[in-house]
Amino acid sequence: MTRPHDSLAPVYDLVYQEDFGDFYNWLTDTTLAVVSELVAVGARIVDFGAATGRMALPLAQAGYRITAVEPSGPMIDRLRAAAGSADIECVQALMQDYDGQGRHDLALCVFTVVIYLLDEHALLAAMRSAYASLKPGGQLLLDIPARELFHNRRVRKRRLQRTVNLRSLGGDLFDYSEKVTLGDVLGGGSYADRFTIRCWSREQVLKAAAEAGLQFERDLSDRLEESGSAYLLLRRPLGP
Ligand SMILES: C[S@@+](CC[C@H](N)C(=O)[O-])C[C@H]1O[C@@H](n2cnc3c(N)ncnc32)[C@H](O)[C@@H]1O
Repeated sequence: MTRPHDSLAPVYDLVYQEDFGDFYNWLTDTTLAVVSELVAVGARIVDFGAATGRMALPLAQAGYRITAVEPSGPMIDRLRAAAGSADIECVQALMQDYDGQGRHDLALCVFTVVIYLLDEHALLAAMRSAYASLKPGGQLLLDIPARELFHNRRVRKRRLQRTVNLRSLGGDLFDYSEKVTLGDVLGGGSYADRFTIRCWSREQVLKAAAEAGLQFERDLSDRLEESGSAYLLLRRPLGP
């Protein structure tokens, strides 16, 4: 079965870095800073939708104990092959299928992972999985992209040509299709990807989280305002 990003995996890092540039670096640095304020080095973190390790690799390097959960085989293979991944526990799975055995101090579900969950059942299962992966008192940091971010994107540079088309499928669902051509300086080649995504409201996500037993703790959106996403901190309560 093919998954979103399977076909783009060989060039995913390159494309995101070239396309989003300074914003991407800022987002990574700021998210890492937020994590370091939430949990001390040595803490156990599960990174849901870890992709090729944008968060997982620097966190492991900093001394956190990382579990990376990622459904795309080609994406997680890139992470497994990356320098610095030896201490990362890599699990190929959907967030909603992962059994984290209550081992983690912090769960991450950041940089649009929630939009890949396509119905209420999957959203609730994902929140239940986050809850189950956390120790009592553990926290979940997740982002919810605003509806304004669901638009077409066209990049025309010598180094990178990229077209992202979003077509409404009605309701909150969108058909996402992407075409990428790398310039010669980046090695050349063309890549395409296509899958369905969903725009969730903050209320829908918080409702599912509450049903899964996670308590809303804090809104951290002002720290990551330029992203256009809400960044929320939730907690698995202490006790039964
Ligand atoms: C835009 S990337 C974000 C990657 C990473 N979290 C980051 O901060 O850079 C979204 C990732 O979520 C993964 N994904 C899609 N559906 C998922 C699911 N149901 N559970 C976990 N990850 C999923 C995709 O394969 C992709 O690697």
